[in-house]
Amino acid sequence: MSVTANKLPQELYLEQDIREIYLEMLNKNFKITLAHKDDVDEIDKLLMTYTKEEIILARSQEQIYADLPFTYVVKTFAKVIAVMNFSFFQPNLAEIRGLVIDQCFQRMAVGKRLLQFALTSLASRKEDIKKLKIDANELRLFALTYKPNFFVSCDFTICEKSEFPQKIYEVCQFCVKKDDCKEIAVERRIKFDEK
Ligand SMILES: CC(C)(COP(=O)(O)OP(=O)(O)OC[C@H]1O[C@@H](n2cnc3c(N)ncnc32)[C@H](O)[C@@H]1OP(=O)(O)O)[C@@H](O)C(=O)NCCC(=O)NCCS
Repeated sequence: MSVTANKLPQELYLEQDIREIYLEMLNKNFKITLAHKDDVDEIDKLLMTYTKEEIILARSQEQIYADLPFTYVVKTFAKVIAVMNFSFFQPNLAEIRGLVIDQCFQRMAVGKRLLQFALTSLASRKEDIKKLKIDANELRLFALTYKPNFFVSCDFTICEKSEFPQKIYEVCQFCVKKDDCKEIAVERRIKFDEK
C-alpha cells in the first residue's frame, strides 16, 4: 500500500475498513429493478445533473415515463441512485441511454452491476422485444459515450460510429455538441434466452 505524506498507515487502514463496511452495508440494501412510475421524479433529478453538463441528452418527464418499460434503476434505502434505459431500432439494434450513477456512488461497481442486471433481464424478455418488431434472435447493443473504458470493463468493444444507420443519430439534432461530437461508439451482442 502506498502512503500519502500527510497520513499515517494506521489512518489509511481505518479508511479502507470504513469504506468496506460502508460498501457492505450498501450492498445489502442495493436493489436493482425495473423502474416504476413513482420513480420518474427521482430519475429526472438524477439525469438533470448530467444533462446540465451536456454529457447526456435532456429528456422530458413524458419521455422518461414512456421509456419506463425498458428503464432499470438501482435503489438504496428506497432512493434512486442509478438509472439506465434501452432504446430500440429495427431490425436488431438497442442503444443504452441515460446511464447515470449518482456522484456519491460512482466507482463502487454500481454501474457495472446495473448494466449486467439489465442485460440479463433483457435477454429474458424476448417476447416484450418482439412486440417492438425487433429481431429477437441476436441483439446488437451499443452506446455512444465519453466513458468507453467503463463499457470495455463490461465486455463491450469499441467500434466505428459510421457502422450504425443514420436513424440512430436523429436525437443528435437536439444536442449542442452535434457539430463537434467526441462520443465513442461501443458495442456488444447479446443472445436471448430460449423459452
Ligand atoms: C460512467 C459511469 C456510468 C460508470 O459507473 P460507475 O458505477 O462509476 O462505474 P463502476 O464502478 O461500475 O466501474 C467499473 C469499471 O469501469 C471503469 N470505469 C468506470 N468509471 C470510469 C471512469 N470515469 N474513467 C475510466 N474508467 C472508468 C473502471 O475500469 C471500473 O473498474 P475499477 O473501478 O475497478 O477501476 C458513471 O461514472 C457515471 O454515471 N458517470 C457520469 C455519466 C456518464 O458519463 N454516463 C455514461 C453515459 S453513456
